[in-house]
Amino acid sequence: MKPKKIKEGVYWAGAEDWDRRLFDSLIPLPDGTSYNAYIVKGRDKTALIDTVDPAKARTLLTFLDSLERLDYIVAQHAEQDHSGTIPAVLKKFPSAMVVSTPKGKEFLADLLELPPEAITTVADNETLDLGGKTLEFLHTPWVHWPETMSTYLKEDAILFTCDLFGSHLASSNIYVEDIAKVCEASKRYYAEVMMPFRSTIKKHMERFDKLRIDIIAPSHGPVHRDPKCIMDYHREWASDKLSNTVVIPYATMHGSTEALVERLTDCLVEKGVFVDRFNTAVTDAGKLAMSLVDAPTIVFGTPTILIGAHPFVAQAAFMVNALRPKVKFASVVGSYGWGGKAVEQIISALSGMKAEILAPVAVKGRPKEADYENIERLASDIVSRHNGLGLI
Ligand code: FEO
Repeated sequence: MKPKKIKEGVYWAGAEDWDRRLFDSLIPLPDGTSYNAYIVKGRDKTALIDTVDPAKARTLLTFLDSLERLDYIVAQHAEQDHSGTIPAVLKKFPSAMVVSTPKGKEFLADLLELPPEAITTVADNETLDLGGKTLEFLHTPWVHWPETMSTYLKEDAILFTCDLFGSHLASSNIYVEDIAKVCEASKRYYAEVMMPFRSTIKKHMERFDKLRIDIIAPSHGPVHRDPKCIMDYHREWASDKLSNTVVIPYATMHGSTEALVERLTDCLVEKGVFVDRFNTAVTDAGKLAMSLVDAPTIVFGTPTILIGAHPFVAQAAFMVNALRPKVKFASVVGSYGWGGKAVEQIISALSGMKAEILAPVAVKGRPKEADYENIERLASDIVSRHNGLGLI
């Protein structure tokens, strides 16, 4: 197979991973993913931008068979799905120099045991002339590791962004074909990976806005020939904009917690608030993450197992806390048999968030009329908060 031409001297040389269903043993990949590497050939020198996951090394190495020389391997990000094939590429082209940020050099040494002499570091805005093709390196830390950078190919106005603006989507077309499908996958990617860094993303995008960009070439998912579209979506996701939605992740064992969730849902919907409900026993964690991109309120529903929260709900709370969504209000509803600390456990799992905790509703056994009244009070409280934010 030959690399696919994007522009004169610029080629896609990545690998589609159609069958991968989990990333980091955590993130669901319903549509697989791709690891995009790019070849940039100048008059004098040739550079490879990122590599592929080691599981797909053979694909990249086959693409590289067509090269007479390789002078640089630009490692925009040290995570192994992009850097993991660098050692194999170096074996094929021993004189190639790896190019990274200073922090990237540390990580590549730690993760891949690359010798320091194989890596040269570049400063922010430093350029590398390949002969009629100029790469400008833009340090973009924290999207989503501290060492990340993007690369701007000046002559062709192509911005290579590695994970940023990426989507976990395997496709036979290297370009965006169905924008709705790509944006759904990209929102999922943003929610699962980039959401904790939304203020950083906004800052980096202000910098990108000063560049002429014809193409955005991420290292996962299709290449964007309409860069404004994907950038506008990211601008919106990273903005302070909120929707009039309550997210309810819950579990139920014998129906009591579900009855509370049901009543809460009904009350909220009657009062004009939208609800996204996720039964954590069967839900896709990526969909839960996506719902958090602009939700102002989250209410966990948990029964009590032994003395604590249901493990699936605890796991959801742990994930929500890690993703740092814009959520402003949180609460817990649930049932118990003879006591326990389920509510306290969930609230303490949210300690990293700045959300205000609204009065929880904990019920002994089946909910009674007084319990439902507490649920209605919680719904009214949420409605008034959403009113205060101008969402209703
Ligand atoms: Fe696609 Fe952060 O690696």
